[in-house]
Order: sequence, then C-alpha cells, then structure tokens
Amino acid sequence: MSGVDLAALARDPAVGTPTYVYDLDAIAGEARALAAAFGGAPHLVAYAVKANSAGPILKTLLAEGCGADVVSGAELALALACGVPAEKIVYSGVAKLDDELDRAIACGARGVGAIQLESIEEIVRVERRAQAQGRVARVSARMNPSVEEIDTHAHIATGHDDAKFGIPLDDAGAAFAAIKAAPHVELVGFSSHVGSQFTSTASYVAAARALFGVVRDARAEHGRSLTFVDTGGGFGIDYGAGCAVHPADFVRAARAEQSAYGLGDLALYVEPGRSLVAAHGVLLARVVQDKRALTHHRPGVDHAAAKPRTCRQWLMIDAGMNDLLRPALYQARHRIVPLEQRRGEPVAAWRVVGPVCESSDDFGEHELPSDPPRDVAILDAGAYGFTMASRYNGRALPAEVFLRGGKVAQQSPRAASDEWVRERLM
Ligand code: LLP
Repeated sequence: MSGVDLAALARDPAVGTPTYVYDLDAIAGEARALAAAFGGAPHLVAYAVKANSAGPILKTLLAEGCGADVVSGAELALALACGVPAEKIVYSGVAKLDDELDRAIACGARGVGAIQLESIEEIVRVERRAQAQGRVARVSARMNPSVEEIDTHAHIATGHDDAKFGIPLDDAGAAFAAIKAAPHVELVGFSSHVGSQFTSTASYVAAARALFGVVRDARAEHGRSLTFVDTGGGFGIDYGAGCAVHPADFVRAARAEQSAYGLGDLALYVEPGRSLVAAHGVLLARVVQDKRALTHHRPGVDHAAAKPRTCRQWLMIDAGMNDLLRPALYQARHRIVPLEQRRGEPVAAWRVVGPVCESSDDFGEHELPSDPPRDVAILDAGAYGFTMASRYNGRALPAEVFLRGGKVAQQSPRAASDEWVRERLM
C-alpha cells in the first residue's frame, strides 16, 4: 500500500492493532477516474459520507471537486467543516429531524444544494421550516424507482416497492402538486438510489430509466427550475469474487440514458460511497491465538458410518465484528492476507474469527501460513468499516492511519481502554 510497510505499522506501539489504514493518493485517483467518465458534461460526484466519514478522506475528495451526500445533521456539519460548499451538498434520509432540516436550510447563501425529499409528507415539513427562516429551500424529489429485481444483498437494496425509501412512482403527480403549493420549496432536481454493491449496471440502468421517465413527463410543468438529475450511488467493487464493471461504466450508462430521454442539458449527479474508498483501506489485526479442535464423538452415533472426525483450525485475531461489521451483517467476504510471508511457506485453511462473544464474529475460512502469522490485513475495508464500528463488548474503536506520498500523513489517537469504563459508569 503506497510503499508503506504495514507490518512495521502494526508493530509500531504508537499505531498497533486493530487499525484501519487508508491510501489518500489512491482515493484521489479513484475520484479523478470517475470525474473523467463525465467527459466534461456538467456533473457532481456527491460522495456518500456514510461510507467513510474521516476528515482527511473528505478533504482529499473535496480537493478533487467532489461534493457530499449526507444523511444526518452531524454528517452535514462535518462536510461543511471540511470545507465542502453548501451548494455541493445533497441531503438524503427518510426521517430528517426538524433541527437537521433547519441546519440544511440555514447553511450557505441558499441552504444545501438540495434536500432530497423522500415522501410527500416531508414536503409539508420542509415548507414550514423554510418559511420560519424566511428562506426558500431547494429540494429534489427522491423517487423510488420500483425495480423489483435488484441484483445485490437484500439488506442494501433500496429502490423496490417494499423499501421505506423515496416517493413511489405512482405518487409523482401528488408530490408535484404538493411542491407547487409550497412557496418556500423550490424543486431543482430528481433523484433515486436503487441499492449498493452492484457488480453489473443492469439494476442501475433500470432505475435510471424509471427516474428519467418521471423527469421527462414532469418537465413541462416543472422544467424552469430543474438543474439536475441524480442517479445515486451503488457502484460495486471487487471483493475478490470478481466485478466485471468499473465505476465509470455506471456513469457512462446513466449518461447514455439521460440523452436518450432528452435530459442531456441537466447536470448528472451521482452519489458513490464505497467505490471511492473501499479498495483503498485495510484493517490491520494481530493474531492473538490459534486453536485446533477435533470434531467430537457424540454418544449414540454410529461413528463407523458417520463422517470422519476433522480438525478445526481457528485463528483468533484482535479485530472483530465491532470493528468490521460487514461479514456478520451481510455475510460479506473480505480477503485476508498475512502481513509477512516467507516464500514457499506451507499454508493451511484457517477459520479467522474475532474476539466478540457472538458466533457471527467470523471472517470466514482463509488460506494463510500454517505457522500462524503475527499480523494480518483484512482487505477492501475502506468503506462501511470504521463508520459502522461500535464499542460492543466494551471494545475500543479501532485506530485510523492516513497515508499520503508513501508516508503516514495523519493518524487518530487510539482510545484508552479505561475511557469506556468512565463513560459507562456515568
Ligand atoms: N446514496 C444513498 C442515498 C445511499 O443510501 C447510499 C448508501 C449511497 C448513496 C452510497 O452507496 P454506495 O455507493 O456506497 O454503494 N453498509 C452497507 C452499505 C449500505 C449502503 C447504504 N446506502 C455495506 O457495508 O455494504
């Protein structure tokens, strides 16, 4: 990673494990490659802050021209504090609180670029909050594209009829009427987000078509103020099982549909999170212990006929589901590699598990040196790793290290273990 010795970092007492390490140069490169796919057409890459909210990462993406897609008042405040112009922020979420709406309406010269309305009921709320401030809130209508075959894990599919997200296509007319009746709300865009971790463009294109169909029909009535269409995030990465498409393919496919629907004059917004950061972050962990156990003989079982006894081999590491939740929550598989490996060293199939008291604290079976390595790296952990970490089991949050130019540019302090005790004593 960027020429940095990860084994030395893991051994450095000032860093230690578990620690996320991110390559800021590679993240910047990812943003540049995506921007090139727009071919100079008006666009905004609104980085989904929920994927990784670290300040150094936000600032790196901001320097590449990205805006931000935020989903809470705290993410909004963070994006603004990192220097993202209010103009370049879109604010999504199905249950925004009044004070979060107030903040989104109040910031910058005209509030955020767009509050993404996820229901007709929300229109009335935004109207009231904007009126109280004597401002006009710019909004986009987040449509639920009603795609029934969404090619990803059920937990991260959002654009189907059974999901809480977005305004149903059938309610588009009622939504426009409600927006028209709200003098402090200005409709500037239309958006959708159909799901995450797509390894083909099919679902994304299906959603874009549904969205663009609505925009085309609505344009006659609402055309004057429209400035953008937003096809959301969801660009998949290769976690090791393959991914035939690149983030730029999603942008190219959306642009082609945009032209086909006669909407080529509107700016195209996208909201990628994972694809900008996932592959450029690893989670370093130390092997705490190994454990070998034979499957046991159960009384009353005819063992001559039963399966032969096998040896289970666990490798217990100091990172767990509280540090990286994806395997436990989505049965996600992340590759795991030793930080040091001698050439020709014999390998074995190890079941890599964390220290948390749950059977789902399990990173799956991985081929690693049979003589257990001292440290390992869990790959592709830059997105939805730290942001979903918790202090479950009284564990500290993992540390974070940011690399730039082949060197450590910044690092977060590791929380003291007794800090949690003080917090919980109250
Ligand atoms: N825009 C909206 C409105 C979203 O809800 C999301 C993700 C994104 C953009 C960014 O999607 P991305 O480009 O990162 O796929 N924790 C899960 C992923 C949850 C995604 C939630 N929404 C995981 O670890 O796979």
